[in-house]
Amino acid sequence: MSKIIAVTGATGAQGRGVVNIMKGTAGWTVRAITRNPESDKAKKLASEGIEVVQASFDDEASLVTAFQGVHAVFAVTNWWEHLFMGKSQDEAGALEEEQGMTIARGAAQTPTLEHYIWSTLPSGKADFPGKLVTPHMDYKAAVDARIKSELPKLASKTTYLYLGFYPQNFFTYPSIKPVQYPPGSGTYVQIQPSRPDAKVLLAGDLDVNPGIWVRQILAKGPITFGKYTNVALEKWSLEHMLEVWSEVTGKKGIFIPCTLEIFAALHGTAGYELGLQLKYGELCDPWAVKDNFIDAKELDIDPSEVVGFRGVMEKLKHLA
Ligand SMILES: NC(=O)c1ccc[n+]([C@@H]2O[C@H](COP(=O)([O-])OP(=O)(O)OC[C@H]3O[C@@H](n4cnc5c(N)ncnc54)[C@H](OP(=O)(O)O)[C@@H]3O)[C@@H](O)[C@H]2O)c1
Repeated sequence: MSKIIAVTGATGAQGRGVVNIMKGTAGWTVRAITRNPESDKAKKLASEGIEVVQASFDDEASLVTAFQGVHAVFAVTNWWEHLFMGKSQDEAGALEEEQGMTIARGAAQTPTLEHYIWSTLPSGKADFPGKLVTPHMDYKAAVDARIKSELPKLASKTTYLYLGFYPQNFFTYPSIKPVQYPPGSGTYVQIQPSRPDAKVLLAGDLDVNPGIWVRQILAKGPITFGKYTNVALEKWSLEHMLEVWSEVTGKKGIFIPCTLEIFAALHGTAGYELGLQLKYGELCDPWAVKDNFIDAKELDIDPSEVVGFRGVMEKLKHLA
């Protein structure tokens, strides 16, 4: 009989990427979790034969029910949704941390659970105390620490998954997408609050890469327990990303560094938050290999299966 993986965020970028791969993985079936089974994205999942179950990160009992009988859970929270609903950076973080713990507590009450995979990020606040905060990263990292201290049994079967920067942001995220300037010139500028040589870890194609990592983590089982890993094979400078964007789209791109303050004036709090992440990338090798790390090679990730930055540019270039 197949094992079941419950995928939270199954209608979103990461979770959908997990579903795409796990639905075709021998020995596994997928249970997609959503607040609204009637949404178009949830109905699309159901039309593909995937079990869709209603639950909310704000309702522990709903998660306990949704996780009944599952062998694995992929857990992801969405800090940005809280920000876009009008919360401050720290309010959004507090809500995200609580939701992260609610999912974890739901999973911890699942007797059949063999593996918990938590989508998280490193913390600028923890790595540079008193110098930097990166709320959308810090509160996720706080969940890591709380899983370890408050839910040790769950921690003993948890793998912590760092998702790099989404290349699709080049087409979908207003503060990242290169814009034509001056109008009609055919030249595109990308104004960012960072040195152009700062390195960013790249998640590659969200449609497949999260699922490739999840499938391999599950296949490797206990050797991944308590370990961190990166959904990524590329760590590129912002400048190099724009060069590749230009090569693929045929449009001339110019990178213009600016201050965090100017970027926040242009793009508000969401821009400020993104800038904090880029500052973190200037200060250190972000997502650097640390203790308790398991790399792509140890997971038997096949590089030819992984779709990187250039592949995403090719796929989405019609949106440039
Ligand atoms: N953009 C980047 O470059 C990047 C890079 C690394 C990490 N991240 C992190 O990625 C996270 C977001 O993941 P994503 O991009 O996959 O999100 P997404 O595409 O915006 O989708 C969010 C998903 O979360 C689900 N969800 C949200 N609140 C829920 C709740 N209360 N109960 C149940 N489900 C809920 C939604 O499901 P329903 O709406 O169907 O209920 C949806 O499937 C953020 O925390 C961000 O920090 C982003």
